[in-house]
Amino acid sequence: MSLIDKLDHNRLPAHLAIIMDGNGRWAKARGLDRSEGHREGVEAIRRVVKAASAASVQYLTLYAFSTENWCRPPDEVNGLMDLMVYALTRETAELKKNGVSVISIGNLERLPAQVRESLEDCIRETAGGKKLTLVIALSYSSKWELTEATRQISRDVKSGLLQLEEISEEILGNYLTTRSLPDPDLLIRTGGEQRISNFLLWQCAYAEFYFTDTFWPDFNEEELYKAILDYQQRERRFGRISEQIEFEQ
Ligand code: FPP
Repeated sequence: MSLIDKLDHNRLPAHLAIIMDGNGRWAKARGLDRSEGHREGVEAIRRVVKAASAASVQYLTLYAFSTENWCRPPDEVNGLMDLMVYALTRETAELKKNGVSVISIGNLERLPAQVRESLEDCIRETAGGKKLTLVIALSYSSKWELTEATRQISRDVKSGLLQLEEISEEILGNYLTTRSLPDPDLLIRTGGEQRISNFLLWQCAYAEFYFTDTFWPDFNEEELYKAILDYQQRERRFGRISEQIEFEQ
């Protein structure tokens, strides 16, 4: 029996975010080049997109490439960029067929033209998919995003488009790249590290965190459902006390 049958369908995370880590170590443990780990990582993405969709998760955000990842050796960066083009081109038709709409967050200006084009094609082709929104975080970091938002808010205040007194959490949220998305309910990090690595810092204010030692290329449907089951055991209090939560249920 698959763990999917054990999920409580009334308590699913609407938005699941994943820090996919461990590709390099997965490859090293097998005496392979790091690039092989990234290639297997794409297969894990296929499995997890299908599994999340089957579990009726509405938004799945994947941290595919961080601002800090630009500092990796050029060969690895170039290999990753080629892999993105390959994966986006190969998967677009299948994503569309399955009702998955792709969007992206991050500083796309830094991406090579080919990656930007294949990403834009994928976004355009899959627009309107209603089953799952797949958010690819590419050349993304929270500090970059918050800095950009601050700049834009300052411009709008300076030009009179926005009044200083109007700035609220909600308004700030509207200046972020995630403005069309609900905040993540569950953040999963694979690969054994327990940190957030400049990912969705504002948006994860009340996310539940789940860490697993499993390297990303080994992550699969059952591991995903295990994480969701763990999430479903937790009491989300959002700063309040248990009795208040019980009263509202
Ligand atoms: C982390 O493992 C993984 C990455 C930095 C890259 C993940 C990206 C992909 C698998 C391609 C995604 C493609 C699309 C189209 C979304 P690591 O290299 O940090 O592993 P390590 O910690 O073991 O070194």
